[in-house]
Amino acid sequence: MALKLNPIRFPSHKFSPISAPQSTNLRSHRVFMASTLNSASIEFENAKKPYFPPREVHVQVTHSMPPQKIELFKSLDDWAEKNILVHLKPVEKCWQPSDFLPDPASEGFDEQVKELRERARELPDDYYVVLVGDMITEEALPTYQTMLNTLDGVRDETGASLSSWAVWTRAWTAEENRHGDLLNKYLYLCGRVDMKQIEKTIQYLIGSGMDPRTENSPYLGFIYTSFQERATFISHGNTARLAKGYGDLKLAQICGTIAADEKRHETAYTKIVEKLLEIDPDGTVLAIADMMRKKISMPAHLMYDGQDDNLFEHFSSVAQRLGVYTAKDYADILEFLVGRWDVEKVTGLSGEGRKAQDYVCGLAPRIRKLEERAQGRAKQASVAPFSWIFGREIQV
Ligand SMILES: [Fe+2]
Ligand SMILES: [Fe+2]
Repeated sequence: MALKLNPIRFPSHKFSPISAPQSTNLRSHRVFMASTLNSASIEFENAKKPYFPPREVHVQVTHSMPPQKIELFKSLDDWAEKNILVHLKPVEKCWQPSDFLPDPASEGFDEQVKELRERARELPDDYYVVLVGDMITEEALPTYQTMLNTLDGVRDETGASLSSWAVWTRAWTAEENRHGDLLNKYLYLCGRVDMKQIEKTIQYLIGSGMDPRTENSPYLGFIYTSFQERATFISHGNTARLAKGYGDLKLAQICGTIAADEKRHETAYTKIVEKLLEIDPDGTVLAIADMMRKKISMPAHLMYDGQDDNLFEHFSSVAQRLGVYTAKDYADILEFLVGRWDVEKVTGLSGEGRKAQDYVCGLAPRIRKLEERAQGRAKQASVAPFSWIFGREIQV
């Protein structure tokens, strides 16, 4: 298949600030966009279609993996059955959202809801902004299943394919579906947030979709998911820690339980990349470098509530301030994965592969240094209203 470039004509309202630290000298989306899109045509197209949600602005690349490599993934089907499907939990052993929520069929329902709402009163608005953003990210699950099914050689060809890759993707989706479900129901009951605004944000986000620049390549796709599962493990772990600090042990348990799922999923995806490094070291190291050069975009970076054109930046900035997900975490995840995959010790590389290896192994300290420098610069304090909490203002 030929490499196909699809220039996208409609701009997004926003860019991803925590996809990678702003302070890095890597090429930014903004610069990339300026060189590929004609702003006059953008404005014209937007005026024509004002009801469209935010869109990706980068040039979208499809099918960059050589077609012969598709066979490699098909030949790994048995391996995936033995090594990846084992990381799924049988439904009967899985927790369900109702395990953590007031039971509507019980006599004590009203009392349980009252207690939940009393505990929720102890948590500050900025915590709820971050929890809502995390919930909305989880609720855009249809986009992530779509993303996995763009990947050549591993996609679910029928919707009920019996290949191990397809079984994994469906079961993974089914496990993930509980995350947004649980957080959504909790937030509905807590009485602290504007559910209609949150629901609109979810609808906009799913409508926007996402192109994580994985180019239909399972190499790029599984590197992306390895990174993302760890990112969500960290952020749900941190919302659990904060809830505990505010004395809400039940909410801490909710966030901690979701974090544990993310960790299990991270284990599976990192194992796939480990296997790829074993059988195709050069192609895999090049793919890791490619993905890191492009930066890992956050799944909800096109977030919009119909009001705030910079909603994702504002949400990310609160998440950064509260320490739920920070620019430092980005560097830490990269460093963790590079260590987990032993990238430094990979042998059998081409000249280009060795350059990619050096780049990947030296990147985390570089990002961290730039981040420290950025932190040193005084940041102007500002506030932004969040529709999710009835327009109340939060420091961003
Ligand atoms: Fe999740
Ligand atoms: Fe996940």
